[in-house]
Amino acid sequence: MNIIDHSILADTASRDSGSAGGVTSTLDKLNRPLRDLRLSVIDQCNFRCTYCMPRDTFGTDYRFLPSSERLSFEQILKLAKAFALLGVEKIRITGGEPLLRRGLESLIEQLAKLTTESGKPMELALTTNGSLLAARARSLRDAGLGRVTVSLDAVDDAVFRRMSDIDMPVSRILDGIETARAVGLAPIKVNSVIERGVNDSQILPLVRLFKGTGVAVRFIEYMDVGGAAGWSNTKVITARETRDIVESAFPLVAVVVREKTGTAVNYRHADGTGEVGFIASVSQPFCGSCSRARVSADGQLYSCLFATQGTDLRPWLTDTASVEQLAVAVRSRWIQRDDRYSELRSTQRRTGPGKVYPTVRMSLVGG
Ligand code: GTP
Ligand code: 5AD
Ligand code: SF4
Ligand code: SF4
Repeated sequence: MNIIDHSILADTASRDSGSAGGVTSTLDKLNRPLRDLRLSVIDQCNFRCTYCMPRDTFGTDYRFLPSSERLSFEQILKLAKAFALLGVEKIRITGGEPLLRRGLESLIEQLAKLTTESGKPMELALTTNGSLLAARARSLRDAGLGRVTVSLDAVDDAVFRRMSDIDMPVSRILDGIETARAVGLAPIKVNSVIERGVNDSQILPLVRLFKGTGVAVRFIEYMDVGGAAGWSNTKVITARETRDIVESAFPLVAVVVREKTGTAVNYRHADGTGEVGFIASVSQPFCGSCSRARVSADGQLYSCLFATQGTDLRPWLTDTASVEQLAVAVRSRWIQRDDRYSELRSTQRRTGPGKVYPTVRMSLVGG
């Protein structure tokens, strides 16, 4: 991985802040490094979460990417190598539902061999809805996956079915989480999007269920992406409100302010039985430290979750272009990056009503 000629990158490294080799400190216009790559391997999902892929938009006639337009595993691996050259330390595989992509384990096997520019193993995580996890956890672990994050918005079966709009018992997701835990895909995180009046009743049951199991629950503010047609400010339960609800039953102690480039503010149970996180993407945007790049299943690079236009990387994903040339293309886009949509949205909402930014499909860009 590191036996790569860096001269092409060095030629274009004039904006770097001068670390050894110059390459690993690729900074955008707001001085944010590129550290985290989210790779969407498929835009399809077997759930129809009302806040992400509402059935009236993503119905039977919805045109998902045909498999011929999806990047091959070879192309995805080439991307990962190029991003590693630019300083990426963490790769998250997303979708849609990534476990719907056939043979995903063989891609993971290749990705797991990568190292970062400084020679450390690449951190490799997967975001899943958990429906196929009981069957796949062992093979994913054997392929070299590090850890999983499972999206789960309710413990109550009826609330779960209503929110994911799927005829599947919640016990299937819980079995998936348990299997992932048993095979050591740790630390496991559970992400719950909380929507006022829909699943706020589930905040305490979720905390109660995972307390003491080693699984960290993280509550996410409902954002105006994906199924944003139904979004309104009044449906957002802020991280602060959610924390008050948790603390009404479970005393918490702050852990750290926030991981340097992470999304969650973490707390631990005062009795030492685990952690709970809060992702305040609406009320306290974290664009200032956002080091995340996203690549969709058809090879578009998105510099922000809310970006409506990607940069087509496919011209560099052919046999004629090298990993280094691909890295140069990504780098030239990254150094132009000035996105901070969540911050701008919160400023603009304060000064006027109405939606400021168009809706993007989170299932395409990757959560
Ligand atoms: P860990 O490495 O497990 O801490 O992952 P993470 O927190 O970086 O990512 P994860 O995929 O677990 O993200 C959790 C949720 O936070 C996502 O599902 C989104 O709802 C939200 N989120 C993640 N990244 C961004 C981002 O860049 N912008 C905004 N606005 N929200 C984000
Ligand atoms: N608001 C917040 N999070 C969302 N996700 C999808 N849509 C939204 C939204 N509107 C998150 C889910 C899941 C990940 C794939 O994306 O929580 O964990
Ligand atoms: Fe699928 Fe996840 Fe979106 Fe739900 S939130 S529809 S599980 S991609
Ligand atoms: Fe990053 Fe865009 Fe999210 Fe801000 S809104 S944290 S810039 S992805």
